[in-house]
Amino acid sequence: MKKEKSIFVCSECGYHSVKLLGRCPNCGQWNTFIEEFYTSTEKLETKEIIYPKKLSEIVIEETSRIKTGIEEFDRVLGGGIVKKSYILISGEPGVGKSTLLLSVCGNLAKNGYKVLYISGEESESQIKMRSKRLGIDTDMIYLLTSSEINTIKNGLEKIKPDFIIVDSIQTVYNPEIPTIPGSVTQVRENANFFMRYTKNNDCSTFLVGHITKEGIVAGPKILEHIVDAVIYFEGDVRTNLRILRNIKNRFGSTNEIGVFSMEENGLKEIPDASMLFIQDIEKNLPGRTVFPTIEGTRTILVEIEGLVTPTYYGIPRRTVSGVDYNRVSLIIAVLEKKLKLNFNTYDVYVNVGGGLRINEVGSDLAVAASCVSSLKDISPIKNTVLIGEIGLTGEIRGVENINLRLRECERLGIERAIIPEKNKNDISVKNIKTYPVHFLYEALQIALDL
Ligand code: TYD
Ligand code: MG
Repeated sequence: MKKEKSIFVCSECGYHSVKLLGRCPNCGQWNTFIEEFYTSTEKLETKEIIYPKKLSEIVIEETSRIKTGIEEFDRVLGGGIVKKSYILISGEPGVGKSTLLLSVCGNLAKNGYKVLYISGEESESQIKMRSKRLGIDTDMIYLLTSSEINTIKNGLEKIKPDFIIVDSIQTVYNPEIPTIPGSVTQVRENANFFMRYTKNNDCSTFLVGHITKEGIVAGPKILEHIVDAVIYFEGDVRTNLRILRNIKNRFGSTNEIGVFSMEENGLKEIPDASMLFIQDIEKNLPGRTVFPTIEGTRTILVEIEGLVTPTYYGIPRRTVSGVDYNRVSLIIAVLEKKLKLNFNTYDVYVNVGGGLRINEVGSDLAVAASCVSSLKDISPIKNTVLIGEIGLTGEIRGVENINLRLRECERLGIERAIIPEKNKNDISVKNIKTYPVHFLYEALQIALDL
């Protein structure tokens, strides 16, 4: 029998090697190499000859956007689906990717678009049942429950859809490639097929890509390079709250989020998420402060919780969720050095309420105040937000979008805000008392009434 030529591929980044390596020299990940049987795919026939063009000759194609009517989804995409776009939706199993996309299909079909829903995961009746649950009743959605690429190609030829959903790319299978579905080569080749189809035909495609807690079978990184936009659907599957987040977007900004709640009959949009993560703004408890974070164009108030308890065994623990771990270490170091507070015999826990992740340093002051508040067991003054980045010298640095933050706080009835002195002259809100501060100790004096 003819022996197949094998190659080792990094499942994270797609790096090829003739030998099995422990660590990928390209992305630095450990134990990600898997053996694959290699067949050249460069035998793709060229349909047309394309010559280089002058940049000045190129006419920009109008990027009209198609609204899905699900506003939280449209916002994350940058205002709707761009024609001929190729989008990856990733998320853990059970988070609601199929539910979201089927709802999107329902709305698109209502507006007269033809949709082909390709599912290699569920049976026709399972999808029909879900569509009934979501109240979708249309003859513009076509189902294809096959994962074999030639069957899919025939389906595409026959239907010529405006929108394609591939649920999921890990199940799509090309029999000419001698590896199992979900392997790096299969995923990459099939994803490339859908990319070519999308760009050559007047349609847009959504790929569903699974991630598992243990790591994905075929790394999402490979897919991320191929597609135009990458959207993550996040949320603890034990709760109802779901967040749609844009990680990459060739057609718009990447910092928008969409907020949903998973209900009995589908995903419900939560357009006003400002107070969603706050339990009770009026109650002031030791170890809890409020920070207005910016997510895209929206302000969301979050609770930053700090718990400081004596260390009983050896090295003090630092447990952080929702903010950057290194940032918390830095804040504790500044508190020790500049305020002469002693954290080295205490465990420190920092958490952002509601499971949101904050990716900005403006929350430093709130983190510091929560930790000191817990350490000293003093409640911070109520109805107050803290905004500011902490420098290594203990100085408070200015933040961006101060008015966007304060306007939302004003709307929600917040009375006081401790803000960086640097932002003082930009403030245009009237109904909030602001306390501009230069240094960390000033901020803590006001917040904790020291
Ligand atoms: P699903 O879309 O199948 O998730 P994924 O495609 O990401 O794996 O959704 C899975 C969960 O959502 C499932 O546990 C049931 C729940 N669900 C609802 O709560 N309400 C609904 O209307 C639907 C369709 C699903
Ligand atoms: Mg699914």
